[in-house]
Amino acid sequence: MIKYKRSLIALSVGAALTVSGWKYLDSDSSKPEFKKESVSEKIWKDDKAVMAKFIDELMAKMTLEEKIGQLNLLTSGWDKTGPTMSDDYQEQIKEGKVGAIFNAFTADYTRDLQKLAVEETRLGIPLLFGYDVIHGHRTIFPISLGEAASWDLDAIQDASRIAATEAAAEGIHWTFAPMVDIARDPRWGRVSEGSGEDVFLSTEIARARVNGFQGDDLGALDTVLACAKHYAAYGQAQAGRDYHTTNMSTRELWDTYLPPFEAAVEEGAASFMTSFNELNGVPATGSKYLLDDILKQRWGFEGFVVTDYTAINEMVPHGFAADLKHAGELAINAGVDMDMQGSVYSDNLLELVEEEKVRISQIDNAVRRILEMKYRLGLFEDPYRYSDTDRQEREIYKHAHMEAARDVARKSFVLLKNQNSILPLSEGQSVALIGPLADSKQDMIGSWSAAGDRWEKPVTLLEGLKARFGDSVDINYAKGASYEFDATDTAGFAEAIEAAKKSDVIVMAMGEKWNMTGEAASRVDLNFPGTQSALMKELKKLGKPMVLVLMSGRPMTITWADENVDAILHTWYAGTQGGHAIADVLYGDYNPSGKLPVTFPRHVGQVPIYYNMKNTGRPFDPNGEEQKYRSRYLNESNAPLYPFGYGLSYTEFSYSDLALNSQILNPGSSVTASINVTNNGEHAGEEVVQLYIQDKVGSVTRPVRELKGFQKIHLEQGERKTVEFTISAEDLAFHDIDMNLAAEAGEFNVFIGGSSEANNTGTFQLSENVQFRRANPND
Ligand code: BGC
Repeated sequence: MIKYKRSLIALSVGAALTVSGWKYLDSDSSKPEFKKESVSEKIWKDDKAVMAKFIDELMAKMTLEEKIGQLNLLTSGWDKTGPTMSDDYQEQIKEGKVGAIFNAFTADYTRDLQKLAVEETRLGIPLLFGYDVIHGHRTIFPISLGEAASWDLDAIQDASRIAATEAAAEGIHWTFAPMVDIARDPRWGRVSEGSGEDVFLSTEIARARVNGFQGDDLGALDTVLACAKHYAAYGQAQAGRDYHTTNMSTRELWDTYLPPFEAAVEEGAASFMTSFNELNGVPATGSKYLLDDILKQRWGFEGFVVTDYTAINEMVPHGFAADLKHAGELAINAGVDMDMQGSVYSDNLLELVEEEKVRISQIDNAVRRILEMKYRLGLFEDPYRYSDTDRQEREIYKHAHMEAARDVARKSFVLLKNQNSILPLSEGQSVALIGPLADSKQDMIGSWSAAGDRWEKPVTLLEGLKARFGDSVDINYAKGASYEFDATDTAGFAEAIEAAKKSDVIVMAMGEKWNMTGEAASRVDLNFPGTQSALMKELKKLGKPMVLVLMSGRPMTITWADENVDAILHTWYAGTQGGHAIADVLYGDYNPSGKLPVTFPRHVGQVPIYYNMKNTGRPFDPNGEEQKYRSRYLNESNAPLYPFGYGLSYTEFSYSDLALNSQILNPGSSVTASINVTNNGEHAGEEVVQLYIQDKVGSVTRPVRELKGFQKIHLEQGERKTVEFTISAEDLAFHDIDMNLAAEAGEFNVFIGGSSEANNTGTFQLSENVQFRRANPND
């Protein structure tokens, strides 16, 4: 089940001795505490000695100014993904003051810029081209949160692989992805960019995406460097407001927010991006604790660290640096290797070295990390190897890529309600297709859609239905309502009502506008913006069957819809092939199998709401006698509208006979939990079988349950399968009262089922405490 935890396995075997009930690690401090498999052995296929010699010789020739140039990343004039832009980036390249460029792509353009670096600078060191290739490059897949809802790691990895292939064919060497921030506050617009609220699911997806982007050989032509971002704890921005302050206990940081980042290191992610937020008073970009102590020293990260857009500069308004020069000093000494768009390093590092505030060795270390990646990509052999117009022609928008995008989209949809099995629709029915998202190309691909075409290629739902039926089904389309926040005009309602009156079924494509999610897109409520709710209520009066196709990049509060429409299909922003994919699911060509990677609240006031909360000393008990002095709201239930892990299918699955092969788990051994899953419905389908574990008593309190495994299985109609999960002590580990990573002896509950509310249970005991990793003094 746990495919990847090499570092933990390495620890639990071998170097342990027992002292008063604890398995202590070998305390010989001359050895590194644990040895990771070197990432370079895995995918960085270079000969280390040859590379070191090459880079030593190159660095010996470089002036300090040239070295500082390598640490400078500037945006090209093609796109602007932050507040500033330098007009003279081409001049700066020629002067040897730039090591990398972002927001530049196509074989021709990257070749032109590369020429400036290779032919016009003294040493001809090639540029590195970066870009936000998040959920596809040209062929756009569902937004990352949507992909996560597929719970299909192979599909997610393939999507990143295809994105890398297309990006690499257009001159891009490096993507600013995956975004691995755990996010539990849907007011924060960037919840759409990650994998949701859960640490286990997000960690597995982080691995899949790093492997997808980087492939198994960084020197191959169809790979790009990955960048795990935003490091760290960006997802817990106070009040859900982007860029806002983050405060959390060190334990929460380690148990919840860091694991996906550590997994990215284990998979060989070539770079990390610092986050904009401060964490416990220290901006992440100036945090030696995060960048040096944890990332580079403790995790042994061998890649390079880049800032987010002007994040060094922002340490001044944060109130952490007196001025830009001071900010630069703090950043380089904390472990930031590359400055994105801030020009702080290029303007100040020379002087800081002269003043002995920054050591040359610190700069050398940063330069080496960057040059090594250029070397691994083969850029010193051929700086133009990614800028190949023929390859670009061949790879972009390939048929196979489009097919994959359609397939991943279908897998990402979550069926939230399906009263009386109104879905799938039958082909004989006439359809009223209504809503601002029914025929809007630009919305289909969502935010951070890289070089994806927003105006021609995306297939809308209206187009998807027309492509499927031609004239054989009456589709009466009316936009009807607006999704703009300030919209009040209801003039379009009449046309929508007319369309509905002449149709057998009403399909409403509603939700958020694409740019209401993503960066700088926080919201104070999670309602339908504009006049959409009002129109839905008018349509309800017609008494016709109603289907809501919901599109959004975050959980929304849709209690009215849940109570009043017959079926709800959440389709996120489904990508270039979205309209075809939605049509496939509405008409039953594909049976929905997605599960929510985030909890849907009933009311924004419940936020943050997530399944693996703590119990409290006064948990609410709906059947208890005492109601008043309980942890609850007076005017809303504690329960979510839809829990994490939830999602229906056109068929029905039942769970039975949960069994554990042993009631005792001994360290070094495992317990197997099994359950029978049966397809009792009338369609073949896929189910995500989920394993949750509760540690009943801990040296620090433990969540009510935590996801520890999942398997996506296919069952034919009437078929039954036995699904097994292997549980070992490392699955039970957390940061204990002393901040050691440990599993504590005692009783554990097991839950298996189709959502985080799974109620098939079993119990086992861990026989002794097991310690996997000692705390750092700083933890
Ligand atoms: C975002 C990053 C992104 C960068 C470069 C920033 O504003 O926070 O996620 O990678 O811009 O476009």
